[in-house]
Amino acid sequence: MIKLTVNGKKKSFGGAPFKRLIDTLREDFALTGTKEGCGEGECGACTVLLDGEPVNSCLIPVCQAEGCKVETVESLGTPEKLSKLQAGFLACGGAQCGICTPGMLMTAQAHIRTKGKCDDKSIRTALSGNLCRCTGYQDIVKSVLKAAKGR
Ligand code: FES
Ligand code: FES
Repeated sequence: MIKLTVNGKKKSFGGAPFKRLIDTLREDFALTGTKEGCGEGECGACTVLLDGEPVNSCLIPVCQAEGCKVETVESLGTPEKLSKLQAGFLACGGAQCGICTPGMLMTAQAHIRTKGKCDDKSIRTALSGNLCRCTGYQDIVKSVLKAAKGR
């Protein structure tokens, strides 16, 4: 039995240890906020945090998360009470089709948490592994900058 913590809750998984983390989250834990884009580690759409670090959940077998803390987009806020970062995306148009958005949010969340520099350049570098087909990135960067203000 694989034991892990997902969004602050203890979880056990008794299925195939090499099942992809993204599938375990979506199919076994009913956390469908994490989205699949390429399925091969190129687009970042499936990004979740593993012990605070952004990872591509399409590349990670669930057994690799044994004993770890996993955070998904569901940990950020609710439709009624958006997190500061989600509110930034809403205010600045950082989400269009939304497929890249959960992964963008989780990578940005990790970046904002570092307490290091959070300017246009550092945000673009942090998000360089997250591809977006819709926004041209400018509004995503603006969204993160807005959320990072007054950290
Ligand atoms: S779906 Fe995982 S990196 Fe694209
Ligand atoms: S909003 Fe569509 S891929 Fe980013």
